[in-house]
Amino acid sequence: MKDTCTTISLVNVDEEQMQALGRALAKALHARDIVSLEGSLGAGKTYLVREVAKALGYPHHVTSPTFVLQKLYALPEPRHGIDLIIHYDIYRLDSYDELREIGFEELPDGAVAFVEWGRKFIQHFPPSVVRIGIHGRGNEKRRVAIGASGDRIPKFIGALNDERLAPELSTSNIIWELFDE
Ligand SMILES: Nc1ncnc2c1ncn2[C@@H]1O[C@H](COP(=O)(O)OP(=O)(O)O)[C@@H](O)[C@H]1O
Ligand SMILES: [Mg+2]
Repeated sequence: MKDTCTTISLVNVDEEQMQALGRALAKALHARDIVSLEGSLGAGKTYLVREVAKALGYPHHVTSPTFVLQKLYALPEPRHGIDLIIHYDIYRLDSYDELREIGFEELPDGAVAFVEWGRKFIQHFPPSVVRIGIHGRGNEKRRVAIGASGDRIPKFIGALNDERLAPELSTSNIIWELFDE
């Protein structure tokens, strides 16, 4: 979703709730989804990918792909059509072309892609992109905004409710300005 979209927000998110968010996303995302992760250094972007990977059954510890740009996590067993996580960190990239050159547009059928700092090239991403902004750092509780196209929202809400997270809905572009840092 581009700058104005339906946004689900979560407030006072501690690490345990971030883990619950990871589990909720693991249920609500589908194969070929692209997820843009936004928020400053130390916000918890890598942390969230690690939790989603864990929830999808990936047995290894996920670390940041800052230096390698891209990491692939093949799942031992497919989960509702997802068999691969592709984890990008585009902090060091200067142009979208560089991301395209490493295969960003050739997402395999069973893959979900997470892009740390995705906001940088958001105008090149498909309109179906799911945006997740994390605000806060250090030991602060985080504010998390999830932006997705309207047809996806009920599934996200359902999965968040299942994990006992308390989503709030809004339609605005203001939330994304918070992540301009
Ligand atoms: N509520 C929280 N959610 C996510 N991470 C948190 C939270 N509280 C503390 N942290 C810590 O913040 C750090 C986030 O680091 P990381 O995920 O690498 O950030 P980023 O990838 O956004 O730069 C981790 O050390 C994590 O343990
Ligand atoms: Mg990171």
